[in-house]
Amino acid sequence: MNEKTKGMRAGLANYGDAGFSLFLRKAFIAAMGYSDDALERPIIGITDTFSGYNACHRNVPEVIDAIKRGVMLAGGLPIEFPVVSIHEAFSNPTSMFLRNLMAMDTEELVRAQPMDAVVLIGGCDKTVPALLMGAASANVPAIMTVTGPMITGHHRGERLGACTDCRRLWGKHRAGEISAAEIQELTGKLAPAAGTCMVMGTASTMALMTEAMGMMLPGGAAIPAVHADRLRHAEATGARAVAMAAEGLTPDKIMTPAALANALRVLHAVGGSTNALVHLAAVAGRLGFDLDLEAFDRMGLETPVLVDLKPSGQHYMEDLHRAGGLTTILREIKPLMNLDCVTVSGKTLGQQIEEAPPSWPQEVVRPLDNPIYSKGGIRLLRGNLAPKGAIIKESAASPVLMQHTGRAVVFESLEDMDRRIDSPDLDVRADDVLVLRNAGPKGAPGMPESGYIPIPRKLAQQGVKDMVRLSDARMSGTAFGTIVLHACPEAAVGGPIALVRTGDLIRLDVPAGQLELLVDEDELMRRRAEWVAPEWTGAERGYRRLWFDQVLQADEGCDFAFLRNPTTTGTVP
Ligand code: FES
Ligand code: MG
Repeated sequence: MNEKTKGMRAGLANYGDAGFSLFLRKAFIAAMGYSDDALERPIIGITDTFSGYNACHRNVPEVIDAIKRGVMLAGGLPIEFPVVSIHEAFSNPTSMFLRNLMAMDTEELVRAQPMDAVVLIGGCDKTVPALLMGAASANVPAIMTVTGPMITGHHRGERLGACTDCRRLWGKHRAGEISAAEIQELTGKLAPAAGTCMVMGTASTMALMTEAMGMMLPGGAAIPAVHADRLRHAEATGARAVAMAAEGLTPDKIMTPAALANALRVLHAVGGSTNALVHLAAVAGRLGFDLDLEAFDRMGLETPVLVDLKPSGQHYMEDLHRAGGLTTILREIKPLMNLDCVTVSGKTLGQQIEEAPPSWPQEVVRPLDNPIYSKGGIRLLRGNLAPKGAIIKESAASPVLMQHTGRAVVFESLEDMDRRIDSPDLDVRADDVLVLRNAGPKGAPGMPESGYIPIPRKLAQQGVKDMVRLSDARMSGTAFGTIVLHACPEAAVGGPIALVRTGDLIRLDVPAGQLELLVDEDELMRRRAEWVAPEWTGAERGYRRLWFDQVLQADEGCDFAFLRNPTTTGTVP
């Protein structure tokens, strides 16, 4: 084993005798059937995120095959290992609750096991941020690829995408426009293939941001899961991992504040998921950077939404791939990007854009001077209801509700909402503001995507399509509406959203970036004195206990406090 190929020595278990430790390690790896020749090479770990519960990762085995091929063609030895895999629909109480577990698993297994570099296979919403968080903390050379978006489905002549159309069609069912039988028929059509949701949900957003921050080879974010390009990208990723091992190109050299700022810029330009802001805050925290939400908000004023994808627009990820993927977007926003950032390719972002094939006529990515939406997709709101911020996806909201004052209709919890929202007795009007609380990081727990509060049935049946809704929860990136999210601090830790009462007036002013509870300060102080903190049930032991002890608020990415880098050395963007 020479100096260049430290693989088997990396993270050597310590028996107090290094020679013996290496001997033992070699004896056990020999049991895998490797020859000495195979082991005299850089070892490239590959995170196996396949799971029978994760349809978005159904193609992981073939992606791994392609990565292995690339590693071996470049002279390395690929070794795959399992890490936690999380699917949005099968994670109770929420996938967010498990994201930090996956990040811890990734960090410790990358650090503990012998590998000179690691290939991360992300896909479904929480997996990409979890892998990035783990890799940032382990700081072993790392490169990401993803499973890729699903191709679209079709239903009675209409093109469908999960899960924007899941919500839209369910909304129609609630309003009585679609029968139970048709809903049954649709279950086989909304997610018709392996891969991730094919709209601009969290998975697509995180993949594009990962490519923009330089952690993925060009083009990787948009290639459909079933496309042969997906496997070619995986092969190239494996080959590049071998070179990165030799170069010592660690995540801290790539995920700089400037690179993370590029990711935030792309978040605006693609009209991406609000969840991405929470995840980017978590990744930044691992690297010792604070996320400056005000600066992100200002960035949005000069970054238009260019990508015409559902839910803000009309196309799907496979169309973006045909239009040239992220590179087509980057070419448009190039003047706004930090072009000197080094990426996993070893080149700078600027070089990559220069070297990309020329553009061609397409309808998915608009030019900078003819955007879908003249400002960034996401706005920050401040005010007495959210002193540490709340956000709204303005590009998916109703323009007529951007400045609105309405009566609060408060739901105490998800259970309370479920019980009452469709009641014919609910005192609610279309100009009210629906408030859901105790659905934040600790409240639910796990900050569920319940911010997409359904329109009360009696209003839906009258044709009401949108209302101002406010919560301390998150929302799926595939959802739409005038929905204020991540009210911070959350109700469960005594944030001001805990003090709202039904009938209070709430004023939303998106252009001014304000969210105010129109109740005077004395009254709020009185209510605060009466407020009783909720008791956490079932949190006496285990991971749930860790969650309640450690989870941070949305503005700090809902990471665990002890997992952040203890030294803050910069600010993003
Ligand atoms: Fe996995 Fe949407 S459920 S990406
Ligand atoms: Mg989602």
